[in-house]
Amino acid sequence: MSDTETTFFIGTRPFVLRQLQIDDLAAYLTFFNSLDAQSMHCRFGYMISALTADEAALRIPPDADSNPVIAIFDAHDSKIFAIGRLQTDKTKQTAEIAVVVTPTMRRQGLATRLLDALIAHAQQLGLSLITAYIVTQNAPVIDLLTRFGFITDEPITSSEEDGELKLSLNLNPAHQRE
Ligand SMILES: CC(C)(COP(=O)(O)OP(=O)(O)OC[C@H]1O[C@@H](n2cnc3c(N)ncnc32)[C@H](O)[C@@H]1OP(=O)(O)O)[C@@H](O)C(=O)NCCC(=O)NCCS
Repeated sequence: MSDTETTFFIGTRPFVLRQLQIDDLAAYLTFFNSLDAQSMHCRFGYMISALTADEAALRIPPDADSNPVIAIFDAHDSKIFAIGRLQTDKTKQTAEIAVVVTPTMRRQGLATRLLDALIAHAQQLGLSLITAYIVTQNAPVIDLLTRFGFITDEPITSSEEDGELKLSLNLNPAHQRE
């Protein structure tokens, strides 16, 4: 994945999907700090509300193979519209996945493209499980992940207004969807 770059179109508009690199730092900061409060909360909980350049640089890991960060760019001006990442744990068996899309670019399949790429990458790495931690009120991402075969043991409708829900995708062949 680290070397590959894919161009695709939505209508006639071209986009590029590729690994985020340190040279993309300015575009990454602009993307990140232009997200609205609700998107920030859905993606990061209460952990992060804004990033400095130094903090952003730390979020572009050098070990792109085991911790890939993939972005979707405007093909013309390299503006970032969506980012997804896989964070592999110490056992190298499990990874946490997360995605976020610019609000004005949603429902056009960008998150789906990121998830396709990240799940394929996880399969190449030989991982057995991908997890996602989401806030329970986040119906869009529950819908999205369920489409990819993620499941949860917990009740999806929680009485907790702001609880966290863990969803998992088992990558072992016997558990994969058809
Ligand atoms: C969740 C999120 C990533 C979806 O991005 P997206 O690019 O709009 O998703 P896609 O266009 O690929 O949507 C694919 C499917 O997901 C589901 N979905 C996406 N947004 C939805 C919404 N607002 N309501 C209901 N279902 C939704 C639908 O099933 C959709 O398919 P459809 O458009 O054919 O109905 C985006 O809303 C987002 O960035 N949210 C804030 C950050 C966040 O919650 N991240 C998740 C933490 S891991």
